[in-house]
Amino acid sequence: MCLELPDNQVHFWYTRLAEQDPRVSRLRGLLSSDEIERAQRFHQERDRSSFIISHGVLRQLLSRYLDGKPEDIDFEAGPYGKPSLCPSCGDHSLQFNMSHTEGMAVFAVTRNRRIGVDVERVDREIKDRDEIAAGFFSAQEAAVFRSLPEEDRMEGFFNCWTRKESFIKAKGEGLSCPLDSFAVTLRPGEEAKLLAVQEGRSEDWSMASLEPLDDYRAAITAEAPWQLADMGEVVDVPLGASVESP
Ligand SMILES: CC(C)(COP(=O)(O)OP(=O)(O)OC[C@H]1O[C@@H](n2cnc3c(N)ncnc32)[C@H](O)[C@@H]1OP(=O)(O)O)[C@@H](O)C(=O)NCCC(=O)NCCS
Repeated sequence: MCLELPDNQVHFWYTRLAEQDPRVSRLRGLLSSDEIERAQRFHQERDRSSFIISHGVLRQLLSRYLDGKPEDIDFEAGPYGKPSLCPSCGDHSLQFNMSHTEGMAVFAVTRNRRIGVDVERVDREIKDRDEIAAGFFSAQEAAVFRSLPEEDRMEGFFNCWTRKESFIKAKGEGLSCPLDSFAVTLRPGEEAKLLAVQEGRSEDWSMASLEPLDDYRAAITAEAPWQLADMGEVVDVPLGASVESP
């Protein structure tokens, strides 16, 4: 049976990525020849496994909304590489985005709205953190970042990073969308929000921040309005079985 996705919802899922994952051999069987070729280009086993799991789980998830077979899904890429479903998949409304970082992949699925998602592992040292903020954040964001006490800076940094990245990914224009052409909230505890944008209106977009597991921060941006449904972890399921939600 198809997974229900009302028009006004965004579904968020995550899965853990590990080198020794029993899913790898099964999920590899779902990938297209292009995806297998990309997987083979990774030199490290860990990177190869992560690619196979994230792309295989994406197929499993999308097949649940389409009520088809994961291996039958065809993707096409936008001008800057953003993947979407081919019209041959039969459902023109379904939109999705995926992000991966060390140890985790996240997925956001919705209907009839552009969507982007980003996840970052936050328990790592960013040596040039303050320089990155000064160089890549907008003037408004950089000023807020500088005003934060040292103990809040890491959280503020990743709030800003994930929210900006999710916005760029929602628009699908890659870095041709200048990072300083829009501003997001970043203060710890402050609602995730697009504050200003050079093209269009900031109120046409909504954001959410999530903490799927300790040490990971994620952000979703999608065209407003929508409600978030946190679907939780995709666990190991046999092919053809349903994907668990909590
Ligand atoms: C694709 C991009 C938007 C993000 O890449 P990334 O952060 O390395 O990777 P993520 O894990 O978040 O996302 C990768 C996935 O997004 C999807 N994707 C690819 N191109 C995309 C695009 N143009 N728009 C949206 N999604 C895209 C794919 O599913 C991709 O997975 P795959 O590589 O396994 O096929 C890229 O343009 C980029 O490099 N951005 C960096 C921007 C930056 O410097 N941000 C700093 C913020 S302060």
